Amino acid sequence: MIIRNAEPKDVPAILALYNHAVRQTTAAWTTREETLDDRLTWFEGRKKQGLPVLVAANEADEVIGFASYGPFRPREGYRLTAEHSVYVVPSFQRRGVGRDLLTRVMEIAGEKGIHVLIGVVDGDNAASIALHEKLGFEVTGRVPQAGTKFGRWLDLVFLSKVLNTAPAPDK
Ligand SMILES: CC(C)(COP(=O)(O)OP(=O)(O)OC[C@H]1O[C@@H](n2cnc3c(N)ncnc32)[C@H](O)[C@@H]1OP(=O)(O)O)[C@@H](O)C(=O)NCCC(=O)NCCS
Repeated sequence: MIIRNAEPKDVPAILALYNHAVRQTTAAWTTREETLDDRLTWFEGRKKQGLPVLVAANEADEVIGFASYGPFRPREGYRLTAEHSVYVVPSFQRRGVGRDLLTRVMEIAGEKGIHVLIGVVDGDNAASIALHEKLGFEVTGRVPQAGTKFGRWLDLVFLSKVLNTAPAPDK
């Protein structure tokens, strides 16, 4: 397995993985599946902004996971904070793919001067919470019943990690 930058040819596999999560899980709080155009626009937007889109690929160069980060909130005071996401193909879960993707996301964020990374997950997503905690993230917020899907309330959990000891910028 390798972790590499995503290329346009990977976008259909990223789309399929994301849409599977939309249909089957509470990883994405929506029931609206995306189109290939939606994902291509997202991919090109991230690239244009210099934001990473990574894939994990197996020996056959099939996409078995992806990860990315983008702005946490739009106002400039949040510019050194990023929100990431990571998805692994179900049949490849629990083999270290998520850990390797998130580790690389943290490295890239650190290199780019991002100060804080935040994962925002469903409070019942034990796998994601355990993955993040294993990599040094802490649960720093929980908003009970902030969302709903599949006929139940979902708690929003923030998992964050301060990546460096940089002083706050002057402005
Ligand atoms: C969360 C997710 C990315 C984890 O990826 P993964 O490749 O299966 O995780 P890894 O194999 O790298 O696991 C790393 C560690 O996380 C923890 N972990 C992962 N899955 C777990 C599970 N189902 N239950 C408990 N702990 C789990 C373990 O500590 C594990 O280390 P170990 O296997 O040595 O015990 C994956 O389950 C997934 O894609 N879920 C659907 C999408 C999603 O929820 N994404 C997160 C929201 S952004």
